[in-house]
Amino acid sequence: MSNVVNDTRIPNNVDLASDKKLQRALEQWQPKFVDWWVEMGPEGFQKDDVWLRTAISVESDGWAHFDYVKMPEYRWGIFLADQVPNRKIGFGDNLGQPVWQEVPGEHRNTLRRLIVTQGDTEPASVEQQRLLGQTCPSLYDLRNLFQVNVEEGRHLWAMVYLLHSHFGRDGREEAEGLLERRSGNPDKPRILGAFNEPCQNWLSFFMFTFFTDRDGKYQLLALAESGFDPLSRTTRFMLTEEAHHMFVGETGVMRVIERTAQLMKEAGFSGDVRKLGGIDLPTIQKYLNLWFTLSLDLFGGEISSNAAAFFAHGLKGRAHEEKEFDDHVALEGFHAIDVPRDGKLAREDVPMRNAMNEILRDSYVADCQRGVDKWNRVLEAAGIEYRLKLPSRRFHRHIGLYADVSATPTGELIGKEEFTRRRGEWLPDAADEAYVQSLMTKPVYEAGKMANWLAPPARGIKGKAIEFEYVRHEL
Ligand SMILES: [Fe+2]
Ligand SMILES: [Fe+2]
Repeated sequence: MSNVVNDTRIPNNVDLASDKKLQRALEQWQPKFVDWWVEMGPEGFQKDDVWLRTAISVESDGWAHFDYVKMPEYRWGIFLADQVPNRKIGFGDNLGQPVWQEVPGEHRNTLRRLIVTQGDTEPASVEQQRLLGQTCPSLYDLRNLFQVNVEEGRHLWAMVYLLHSHFGRDGREEAEGLLERRSGNPDKPRILGAFNEPCQNWLSFFMFTFFTDRDGKYQLLALAESGFDPLSRTTRFMLTEEAHHMFVGETGVMRVIERTAQLMKEAGFSGDVRKLGGIDLPTIQKYLNLWFTLSLDLFGGEISSNAAAFFAHGLKGRAHEEKEFDDHVALEGFHAIDVPRDGKLAREDVPMRNAMNEILRDSYVADCQRGVDKWNRVLEAAGIEYRLKLPSRRFHRHIGLYADVSATPTGELIGKEEFTRRRGEWLPDAADEAYVQSLMTKPVYEAGKMANWLAPPARGIKGKAIEFEYVRHEL
């Protein structure tokens, strides 16, 4: 078991005090991080006491401490899951070799890129969500937003620790860069598309935490398999925190649906639920379409020689590599992918290693479907026939094989013009955005109260009542 030090400037279980040079470098980065947090973190709540969980160890039963804390004083720490003794690389050409504790020279650039790309998403999401608090539907939700935000901040710390401790000067420069890029800024954007999209309302926030944080989960699962052991250990502990982010998304969308179902009942099922201030199901479907497809892009191209190389070299595996797959070398076998050719789809067999992005995406889509099924059970129980659906992975794509074709949500290829003409049937248009925004102009700061468009949660956080004052907000 690793030793936890919680009384130093940077809480950690990596014996930071034994490496003075590294400790000093991180202590120099820390105030820059806090400056970034104050500038780009939740706007208007930095002085509030927020009831937050803080990671204090990696013990499965007691890794977190809950208390009121002002966000800029949050104790962002460095925690790696315990080392697995004699761990071996579980896939690729180096299958069965001992894992690396230091970065192998030949993989240095690739690993740095993987870590920077993951690290960049963490502060990006905080930036995307920085104004949401001002339109919160309840103190419970406000607290969950901030919980997600501070933990994305800790995930940035996790990646910066790896950069500082294993990549020398380049690593330190990359760590600075992570604080300099800005979500949505045309001059210095974040690295990945979905993390430059605005997340302006709470329906988007719930969809984001369901779909986009879940991409994060699958990227972390793939990196947890890495032969570079410090990366594996770091990402394994990040997954512990990530579970709550997806809970926020899954239950958030579910509560929107519950409330909509209730209002539909009140409206006699035939009436317009917008008249009662609810979010109609077709609008929910459009936001689902948007965030699901933006998140699909994050897995990269369907056929990818980079993905093949990551796998071959033991840098990035598949989710649950050992449990879910039998052949961990993957030099044989193919993955069937529908490739657009002259306006039609042709099924092609892609060598397994080149299809690794698509295979990770398959696991992700199946996981998303489980959540959508739960949402649909709410509709079913309410006697409503409408069902939410994941759109085809050919729909609304900007990366990979389908980036240059247009498709309907059911996956039929159509002309660009038809797509443009019908876009508003499938994705939120200006009127939908304006409507959703209009429901959220006033924040709800009274403990226990919920905005009209959202059902209360089933229970509070960590044994606290729903009426608990999760955020002491100074008006
Ligand atoms: Fe994260
Ligand atoms: Fe997350």
